[in-house]
Amino acid sequence: MAEFTKLEDIVSLCKRRGFIFQSSEIYGGLASCYDYGPLGAELKRNVRNAWWKSTVQMRDDVVGLDCSIFMHPLVWKASGHIDKFADLIVECKKCNTRSRVDHLVDNAEEHTEHVPVETAETDANNLGNKICPGCNKIGNFTEPMPFRLMFETQMGANIDDSMKIFLRPETAQGIFVNFRNVLDSTRVKIPFGIAQIGKSFRNEVTTKAFIFRTREFEQAELEFFCAPGEDEKWYEHWKEFRFNWYVNLGIKKKNLRLRDHDSDELAHYAKGCVDVEYKFPFGSGDWQELEGIANRTDFDLRQHQRGMRTLNSWYENKGDLSKIELKEESPDYKKGPLSYFNEETKERFVPYVIEPSAGIDRSTLAFLVDAYDEDEINGQKRNLLRFHPSLAPIKAAVLPLVRKDGMPEIATKLYDDLKGSFACFYDQKGAIGRRYRRQDEAGTPFCITIDGQTKEDETVTVRHRDSLEQERISLSSVKGYLFEKLGV
Ligand code: GAP
Repeated sequence: MAEFTKLEDIVSLCKRRGFIFQSSEIYGGLASCYDYGPLGAELKRNVRNAWWKSTVQMRDDVVGLDCSIFMHPLVWKASGHIDKFADLIVECKKCNTRSRVDHLVDNAEEHTEHVPVETAETDANNLGNKICPGCNKIGNFTEPMPFRLMFETQMGANIDDSMKIFLRPETAQGIFVNFRNVLDSTRVKIPFGIAQIGKSFRNEVTTKAFIFRTREFEQAELEFFCAPGEDEKWYEHWKEFRFNWYVNLGIKKKNLRLRDHDSDELAHYAKGCVDVEYKFPFGSGDWQELEGIANRTDFDLRQHQRGMRTLNSWYENKGDLSKIELKEESPDYKKGPLSYFNEETKERFVPYVIEPSAGIDRSTLAFLVDAYDEDEINGQKRNLLRFHPSLAPIKAAVLPLVRKDGMPEIATKLYDDLKGSFACFYDQKGAIGRRYRRQDEAGTPFCITIDGQTKEDETVTVRHRDSLEQERISLSSVKGYLFEKLGV
């Protein structure tokens, strides 16, 4: 059993076996950008599908959405990102390295994702004993200044009518601005949720640890709308639901915990927030955020009602956001365009929102780290990934024992029959022991071997990755066996 997995071992396995590569590697790489190779693309899709299945498919109170990444610039004014989504940074006067103020604590690993600008340390005098990560010297820093995290780009070809737009830093806002559309086009009734998975972008000051914190990443977010007063109950529900999701997919409970945010960590929109944290093997083996679950109250829908009232001013100022203030909220905001009418109680209100917000890349890293193991078979070291079967990139490998005596023909026929139902792999090259070990390292839970006995009695061997147990089952029952074991 690997007691303490090192990140280097994971990075090296990921490259060797085609899970994850450095982006643009043949050009020397692009910092903090990664590409998922053949096994990684399967793994990541399985993580995404597992989230979607449990959050949307298996629930009667959640529907899905897939919004565009580019959105109207006023969305980000209304959401607060234009004014507040920034990290406070300082520049080291000796080496010019820029660092996040909240990352300077004794040069240690940070515990939080984003300390809001409003509550972060703002005085350079108080940073006197902090170490600059660039030159490792006690810092002599500039005054802290806000650094906006949203990427900007231009939309449109003509100078006159092109406008500045932003790459979304979270998928959540696409859900809020479609709240009315979903209400009007489906039969959802509160309480209900809208879920979305997609790419988000943040110009992070510091990136970190492989795919843990990158500038382009994928989020899986749910906005769950409920009546004010019901929010605490749903907050508790989603905390438990999301914690169990990781455990049910094989993350060891000892490596997972829930941590409530302190009041100075709370984002501007949140009444309460808890992080699902995983004990990652980098830094000092520290607890790090996997997912945040926030009570966003009615903040976002009310802000977008203000945004809608600001549209005229946006046109008048030719889209120049720096000249625009959000219009005040209408005193009648509870009856506004993003309110909800409860047919039974005849009440109209702006719903409260509970938001579980997970990172697909970050969860993928946690699943990789947690599944990684080393053991010994007959005195030989074995690396393996003990993935939950539903996450394993390959569900079953089909292996003829030798490349003769009709074994490849039977194996190919079985493989062709299985591949329509499961991600399978056919391999007839090399010694069987080495082929097993390659599959162990890819995390394949079952190897099906066709041998001399198969021709005689139409049975095959099923070899189990974790227990190394081997059992014989009939050739004709392999598909049913896999359906049962994989739970698909
Ligand atoms: N809508 C709320 C929101 O975006 P967040 O805590 O900033 O909240 C949610 O992000 C999750 O998205 C994080 O818990 C993490 O899993 C993932 N995430 C955020 N920034 C990331 C980054 N730079 N790289 C990888 N994943 C990131």
